[in-house]
Amino acid sequence: MDRIAVLTSGGDAPGMNACIRAVVRTALNYKMDIYGVNRGYAGLIKGELTRLNTRSVSGIIHKGGTFLNTARCPEFKDEEGLKMAAEALSAYGIEGLVVIGGDGTLRGAKDLSEKFGIKVMGIPATIDNDLAYTDYTVGFDTSVNTVLWAINNLRDTFHSHDRVGLLEVMGRNCGDIALYAGVAGGAEYVLVPEIPYDLDKISASIKKSYLRGKTSNLLILAEGAGDADEIAKIIEQKSGAGVKVTKFGHIQRGGSPQMFDRVLAARFGYKAVELLMQDADSCAIGIRDNKVITVSYEEVAKAPSRFDKRLYDIAHILNL
Ligand code: ADP
Ligand code: F6P
Repeated sequence: MDRIAVLTSGGDAPGMNACIRAVVRTALNYKMDIYGVNRGYAGLIKGELTRLNTRSVSGIIHKGGTFLNTARCPEFKDEEGLKMAAEALSAYGIEGLVVIGGDGTLRGAKDLSEKFGIKVMGIPATIDNDLAYTDYTVGFDTSVNTVLWAINNLRDTFHSHDRVGLLEVMGRNCGDIALYAGVAGGAEYVLVPEIPYDLDKISASIKKSYLRGKTSNLLILAEGAGDADEIAKIIEQKSGAGVKVTKFGHIQRGGSPQMFDRVLAARFGYKAVELLMQDADSCAIGIRDNKVITVSYEEVAKAPSRFDKRLYDIAHILNL
C-alpha cells in the first residue's frame, strides 16, 4: 500500500494529536504517502485532504484537541455520504484509511469498509471509555485526571463548609469516568447509568454520616445517570443537607494528554499503519491486558458491556 489517510472524528479526546503523529511518522517510515483529512467524515465527504510530512506533526504530541479538527457528520450514516467519501479517497488514489474516534466513528468505519471495500483501521479515542472490546480508549486517562483535579479543589471547599457536593461528569451511556474518578478521588457515592441507585438510601446514609461527625460528602454523577439539579433537590429534601452542584462540562475533554494516553496513542497509531502495510483486513485496534489487539468491526458492535461492578462495589466500601 503506497498512499493512506488519517482523520479524527466525533468528540475530540486528549491524545488524538499524539495518535495522528504516530500514524504519520509510521507511514513515512514505511515510505507511504500520508494525507490528513480535515474535520473527520464531514471533511472526507467534501474532499478536504492535505498531504502531511514529518514536520506537519512537530510540536503536537503534548497538545489536547486535534489539529486535524473533528466533526459529527450525520450525512455519513447514509449511502450517499459514504459514496462521496469513497469517491474522495479514490480521487486522491488513497488505498487505506486510519480513523481515530469513538463508537460512532468505528460504526462509520465498518460501513465504509463493508460497502465500498476500503481498508479502514479504527483507533478507539474518546474520553468516555465506552467501547467494550478494549480495556482503554485514548483520552480516558487524561480526562479522569482532569476530573480528579476538580475533585481535589471541591473537597477543599466542601470540607470547610460541611457541604454535600454533587459533581456531574461526562458519560451518557458509560459510567467509567465517574467510576474511576470516584475511586481515585474518594467520592462517597458514584452514580452511573449501568447500575440503579436509590436516592432514599443515599439521603438516609448522608444524614447518618453527619450524625456520626462526618463533615462532607461527595457524589460523582455520570451525565447519563440522571439530572444533577433534580437529584440535588431530592437529596436536600430528604437529608436536610445543603447540596452544591458542579457541572464540569467540556473542561474534562481538553488539556495536555497524560503519559498513559500518549503511549497508548503511539502503540495504536503504529499498529494501524503496520496493518495497512500488511494489507490486513479492516478492523478496530484495542488493548487488552496491556497487549495491543485487533478486533473485527462485527465483534466491536457485539461486545457486551464490561462495566466493572467489582470496582463500583469497592468504591462504596472504601469511601463511605
Ligand atoms: P464518537 O465517534 O465520538 O462516538 P459520534 O457518535 O458523533 O462520535 O460519531 C462520529 C461520527 O461517526 C458521526 O458524526 C457520523 O459521521 C459517524 N457515525 C456515527 N454513527 C454511525 C453509523 N451508525 N453509521 C455510519 N456512521 C456513523
Ligand atoms: O463522546 C464524548 C462526549 O464528550 C460525551 O462524554 C458527551 O456526552 C458528548 O461528547 C458531548 O458532546 P458535545 O461536545 O457535542 O456536546
